[in-house]
Amino acid sequence: MIQSNKYLKEYKFKNILEMLRNNRATPKKCTDDFNDKLVVITGATSGIGYCTAREYASHGANIICINRNEEKSKNVCEEIRRDFEVKCDYKVADFTQISDVKRAGRELLESKLNIDVLIHNAGVHSTKKILTNDDNELVFQVIYLGSFILNYMLKDRLRAQERARIIFVNSEGYRFAISGLKLDDLKWKKRRYTGLGSYGAAKTAQLLSMIEFNEYFIDSGVTINACHPGQVKTNIGENNGRFYRFYKHHFVNRSSKSPQVSADALYYLGVSKDVEGVGGKFFNLTTEEELAPHALDKEVAEELWKESLRLVGLE
Ligand SMILES: NC(=O)c1ccc[n+]([C@@H]2O[C@H](COP(=O)([O-])OP(=O)(O)OC[C@H]3O[C@@H](n4cnc5c(N)ncnc54)[C@H](OP(=O)(O)O)[C@@H]3O)[C@@H](O)[C@H]2O)c1
Repeated sequence: MIQSNKYLKEYKFKNILEMLRNNRATPKKCTDDFNDKLVVITGATSGIGYCTAREYASHGANIICINRNEEKSKNVCEEIRRDFEVKCDYKVADFTQISDVKRAGRELLESKLNIDVLIHNAGVHSTKKILTNDDNELVFQVIYLGSFILNYMLKDRLRAQERARIIFVNSEGYRFAISGLKLDDLKWKKRRYTGLGSYGAAKTAQLLSMIEFNEYFIDSGVTINACHPGQVKTNIGENNGRFYRFYKHHFVNRSSKSPQVSADALYYLGVSKDVEGVGGKFFNLTTEEELAPHALDKEVAEELWKESLRLVGLE
């Protein structure tokens, strides 16, 4: 309660105005080539991830996607190889299984490939509270713990490369956790679960981890940033009940843009010289934006780091 009040007191009205203004801004574009570079992207079987993988491939980059569905992965890779004549490979990992994500991380390490851009895109929105086999809340595990594991496992390697960009496909939805991340209840066992609340918490956790990873990468040539990819029409939320889907199809989708808008922004953030050396920042598409106070709490970020290592069994 004390924490909630603290963040609310610190919240600036101008922060919301800035978000609204940025939502309407014309995103910047990058047209540079990215020939023979390697892009690793999670959740490339639909929506933003699919368009982003194609966008990078269209500029000459090779792709490794980490997806949960083998059949869809094969199809996406075949399509990318055929359309753009680049290499495209995949790893199968269901982010509801910590062991799967760790396996994908190990395989990337063993491959000794130089990763130029790592995009954490896989995500889910669930109106029902679901616990994974690892006993974590589903959305928190898929969005946050999945990206944490890969970053943590790859961090030394990326640093040794002396050049790479990591991008979280985050969301303005992190604001749904305005009263802060509840470190004592990451599994939603003590509070009433809401879909927006859990989504906001998972995205907030990603942003808090960005503080710590950014510190680790400082002056190393590796940068880590987060992007709100716009409100775009994708499959997100299609796993929910029919009332939610009705609302999404009839209201949300009508005002949503094409995920190509997100792909353009994620290409810009991964490639453009304008963002060279910029790290630890949040971008609303391509416009840098100040984060709300609860996503900037260093003390909580440090506690979350320790707790995450414990939850995923990494040291
Ligand atoms: N759409 C928007 O307006 C919007 C706005 C802000 C942020 N975002 C963020 O953008 C990212 C991409 O979402 P999207 O809108 O493009 O939705 P989407 O079309 O549903 O794509 C989500 C991707 O994540 C994968 N995924 C879901 N659960 C997974 C799991 N357990 N393990 C591994 N992969 C999993 C999906 O795989 P399958 O194909 O197998 O389902 C798919 O490839 C998410 O992080 C989302 O939070 C979206």
